[in-house]
Amino acid sequence: MKGLVLSGGKGTRLYPITYTSAKQLVPVANKPVLFRVIEAIIEAGITDIGVVVGDTAEEIQAAVGDGSRWGVRITYIPQEAPLGLAHAVKISQHFLGDERFVMFLGDNVIEGGIVSLVRQFQDSDYNCQIVLTRVPHPEQYGVAELQDGRIVRLVEKPRQPKSNLALVGIYMFDHHVFEAVNAITPSWRGELEITDAIQYLVDKGYKVYPYIHEGWWIDTGAPGDMLDANRLVLDEITPRIEGYVDRDSHVSGKVTIQKGAEIINSVIRGPAIIGQETRIVNSYIGPFTSIYHHVLIEGSEIEHSIVLEYSRIVDIDQRIEDSLIGRNVEITRSPLKPKAHKMTLGDNSKLGIVCNG
Ligand code: DAU
Repeated sequence: MKGLVLSGGKGTRLYPITYTSAKQLVPVANKPVLFRVIEAIIEAGITDIGVVVGDTAEEIQAAVGDGSRWGVRITYIPQEAPLGLAHAVKISQHFLGDERFVMFLGDNVIEGGIVSLVRQFQDSDYNCQIVLTRVPHPEQYGVAELQDGRIVRLVEKPRQPKSNLALVGIYMFDHHVFEAVNAITPSWRGELEITDAIQYLVDKGYKVYPYIHEGWWIDTGAPGDMLDANRLVLDEITPRIEGYVDRDSHVSGKVTIQKGAEIINSVIRGPAIIGQETRIVNSYIGPFTSIYHHVLIEGSEIEHSIVLEYSRIVDIDQRIEDSLIGRNVEITRSPLKPKAHKMTLGDNSKLGIVCNG
């Protein structure tokens, strides 16, 4: 089997973090979501993986490389514009050939990996198998209707969903999917929808079956989703202390301190991860926090947050919570008078200021 990862598109809901970079490269528990997707595919025994890329192709290729770091082969498939998930399949035909494949959206995080579902599809004579899970707001996703354990109808983001079974961004196909993606026409939003392609397979009598996923699943489209995914993944990782913790610091709970990190006179309460070459000085890092590499946190308190590389947070006396802080961000207290908030914020930034009294 082959793997196909979709990593094109525009991350508008994660602006401003994704103005300058791909949303699939935002890290969850200090590992880019896209790396988690690729590693899940590799864990399922697949070594030939295509990655569909768009505007952020250069950055994705620089981060992921040719796959040799994982001992697999990665082929990049450029998509001229985000014309839909079925369009991405269409342009990948030359890479996929006649092989069965698993398609995984590059911004999805799923509990427990995909080993069992890939195995189930491999052992079956199904033409397509889609992963579904029960969600409280199905109208935000593709929604499936089942009858006698088979898929009968799929609707993309319906106003009035007929079930609470959402399509998780993981799909398995055989070569008949090319007949479908070549037959369908763009939807009202101008995209070739994978839901329409699967509906075509159902209507033509091909065998389309569901795989019901029972664990958690997160489509990391918005900042709140990133924080949720971070919380869930941090809870799963095995703690490791590879950096330096001085005698005046206190580390408790599930905490990973990566190589070259330094914890000086600070409290770290897990689950939390501190990245390579990051320094935490006279600070408190609370549960569900991921601090990426080369960050400085000094004289500050932060919890339930993600801080990206090369940022500095210094002498902030109010605790920072529920925050997604980008790359090279500086949050510091100015010694200059008058005492006022002084900011340089990018477009679409969000800042919550605590008012005293
Ligand atoms: O996350 C699950 C949902 O994903 C499903 O429930 C929906 O049925 C499915 O259509 C899809 O909906 P989204 O609106 O969330 O898809 P989005 O546009 O966010 O794209 C998902 C990923 O695929 C993202 O990493 C970008 C990439 N992509 C997207 C498009 C439209 C491409 O690589 N090329 C594209 O043309």
